[in-house]
Amino acid sequence: MQAEPMSITLNTVVVAGAGIMGQGIAQLCATLSLHTILYDVHEEGLNKARQGIAQNLQQNVAKGRLSEEDAAKIQQRIVYTHRLKDAVGDMLIEAIVEQAAPKQALFLAMEQQNGPQFIIASNTSSIPMEVLSKGLSRPERVVGLHFFNPATIMKLVEVISGPQTLPSVAQQAEDLAHRMNKIVVRAQDAPGFIVNRVARPYYAESLRLLSAGGLAHQDIDRLMESIGFRMGPFRLMDLIGVDTNLSVTTSIYQGLGCPARFEPSPVQQRLVQEGHHGRKSGQGFYSYPPQDGSKTN
Ligand SMILES: NC(=O)c1ccc[n+]([C@@H]2O[C@H](COP(=O)([O-])OP(=O)(O)OC[C@H]3O[C@@H](n4cnc5c(N)ncnc54)[C@H](O)[C@@H]3O)[C@@H](O)[C@H]2O)c1
Repeated sequence: MQAEPMSITLNTVVVAGAGIMGQGIAQLCATLSLHTILYDVHEEGLNKARQGIAQNLQQNVAKGRLSEEDAAKIQQRIVYTHRLKDAVGDMLIEAIVEQAAPKQALFLAMEQQNGPQFIIASNTSSIPMEVLSKGLSRPERVVGLHFFNPATIMKLVEVISGPQTLPSVAQQAEDLAHRMNKIVVRAQDAPGFIVNRVARPYYAESLRLLSAGGLAHQDIDRLMESIGFRMGPFRLMDLIGVDTNLSVTTSIYQGLGCPARFEPSPVQQRLVQEGHHGRKSGQGFYSYPPQDGSKTN
């Protein structure tokens, strides 16, 4: 049996993927005074992330939750880079596209350019650690650390141990989430973990209803919101990212042996093919003006 290594001291966290989730996670890390490297392959995404984080911090200042001085310090702790070689630290929190192959390739590269104690945490919504850690030299240092959207606000975090994850690695991921003031639940290493698996029928049945005709997506949203759901399924898919939501559905569908109830919807597939990815692209089920990102129809 392998000896349990000592806990590492976290000084520098690399957050990979500067999209919806990476931005929020980077802000959370920097708020804990961690030196934070936000890495993305797209420079444009990094610029958007810098603006998004600045805007979010300013909103907190305006609401009296944060001083101007602290907001400036948080921003200064984040380094933005599109160079993989600069992504060096004590831990990775990965939030890139929801597909196994690019995540595995990134983990391999990160494992090679970081020390033996380096922790690889994935914010995947659905892909088991058993899959993501394939081909790595140190699969025991891979753990799921699944935040919810928006990461700075939503309290829940799922921590997922793969078959080889060391208890000390899962514990360090959990400790970090606690430091961020999150509520942690340990989830089994199965497709979609807990929340995304339970939530799948909400999207799948709504998309089936829409395809059947007779109801517009606005009607379904309005009805669901009127009975107490915070967001209707279509507004929620736009918030998550229609592409990401489809990737999660596809991954859970395939991971569970293709049960009909989780079959991806042609309506959603068409939207993704057309580039209508939701709020982040300005168009999904609804349209969003570039200035404020709010719902228009
Ligand atoms: N959107 C949500 O509501 C949500 C919630 C929880 C978890 N997640 C998970 O978080 C991850 C990211 O989702 P998101 O919504 O932030 O996606 P996103 O589309 O907003 O951003 C993804 C970012 O990753 C970058 N990227 C793609 N490939 C890369 C690579 N090989 N190396 C570095 N950067 C790369 C892209 O340029 C993009 O900026 C996914 O695994 C998703 O399932 C998403």
